[in-house]
Amino acid sequence: MPANVWPVGAARQEDGVVTVAGVPLPEIAEEYGTPVVVLDEADFRLRARQLARAFGGPEHVHYAAKAYLTRQIARWVDEEGLALDVASAGELAIALAAGFPAGRITVHGNNKTRPFLTQCVRAGVGHVVLDSPGELDLLNAVAGELGRVQPVLVRVTPGVEAHTHEFIATSHEDQKFGFSLASGAAFAAAHGALRAPNLRLEGLHCHVGSQVFDADGFALAAQRVLGLLAKILDELGPGHPGGREGLARQLSILDLGGGFGIAYTAEEDPLDVAGVARDMLAQVSAYAAASGVPEPTVMVEPGRAIVGPAAVTVYEVGTVKDVAIEEGIFRRYLAVDGGMSDNIRPALYDANYDARLVNRFTEGEAVAARIVGSHCESGDIIVHDLLLPADVGVGDLIGIGAAGAYCLAMSSNYNAACRPAVVVVRGGEARLMVRRETIEDLLAREVD
Ligand code: LLP
Repeated sequence: MPANVWPVGAARQEDGVVTVAGVPLPEIAEEYGTPVVVLDEADFRLRARQLARAFGGPEHVHYAAKAYLTRQIARWVDEEGLALDVASAGELAIALAAGFPAGRITVHGNNKTRPFLTQCVRAGVGHVVLDSPGELDLLNAVAGELGRVQPVLVRVTPGVEAHTHEFIATSHEDQKFGFSLASGAAFAAAHGALRAPNLRLEGLHCHVGSQVFDADGFALAAQRVLGLLAKILDELGPGHPGGREGLARQLSILDLGGGFGIAYTAEEDPLDVAGVARDMLAQVSAYAAASGVPEPTVMVEPGRAIVGPAAVTVYEVGTVKDVAIEEGIFRRYLAVDGGMSDNIRPALYDANYDARLVNRFTEGEAVAARIVGSHCESGDIIVHDLLLPADVGVGDLIGIGAAGAYCLAMSSNYNAACRPAVVVVRGGEARLMVRRETIEDLLAREVD
């Protein structure tokens, strides 16, 4: 199994059956049905620890819940000592339901409502990341009504073009997140937060994008945000009760967001997180010294790099069809029992995936193939273009690696599909974490 894509616990037995953490995938398929998502707990924890080590301690790493969150995952994150980044009232509710300490939660969102902000302040979340002028005023009012002072960060868009898909690049100027640095909006937001009696500004945040491989983007963003920090300290420090020094101590957090790229196919290399962290921390030190600001505490918010490689989706092949694409040239379409409802990423971002037969060895000759889902849409493709042994057929099981991030998190009920079960594997044992959705679940929401 390609170790750069599949979970650390994945291996192929002598009979060709693939196991994860010692549990044969066909056994899981048999017991829980397909499609089924298999999550390797040790893989998740290992990556959480690697990131914690790379960034100088688990408290500096916020797991980005949007990649995938359940109560159990929130508990793993807590046990590993990491902090948590949530981006909606729902994610916050799951974290709190798991007993995740609110003080280690950072809250994102470009359209936080009054009830959501109230929930944040009441729960005592560590930081709310301000995203708009209206939110600044609303949060100040909400905190005041509750008699609290809410720590906040200001989300800055430093105008860095991340080289990733347009929909997941978030730091360029013309988009919905944060306060632009170039226009002066970020400085004004910091000024506003410092004047707001019920807010306590503790630092700055930026996020250049997701599935990023070019580490220079992080460094450039950090440099620009530190430039803004220097301007804030120089211009607003003299008017601050503690002076420039006191303000510098207060604005100690530099949160650089998430985005570390992972390998989805055997040919790709994941971003070397330890190396990037080393460079990033050294660069932040150097920029801070150069701009005359004290060295900030660097925080990061990886989601994909922790949960992405930890899970595999197992599907069963139901239909095989050879489709003529040119005179005498065929493409074999293998349809599986899931698709864009459990993984929209190929349709949305042209994402590529690594597919393996997981129930046996095959000796068939390779044929040009495409793995498609069961949805009523021709763009319902899981793997666009691959070579598969000619004998792979109906009833075979196909595993898709690196399916942990933004697959279930972005799943839907398109065609009234019931979402897959999620099974956690650890030390040779499998246990159900999320049961398969049923048609009764879907019907239960209809009120007539
Ligand atoms: N922090 C902030 C403020 C973010 O907006 C994001 C991702 C993260 C952290 C985590 O990024 P990660 O480390 O997971 O790359 N649905 C897309 C990804 C959208 C990411 C949105 N924000 C996908 O499937 O590729």
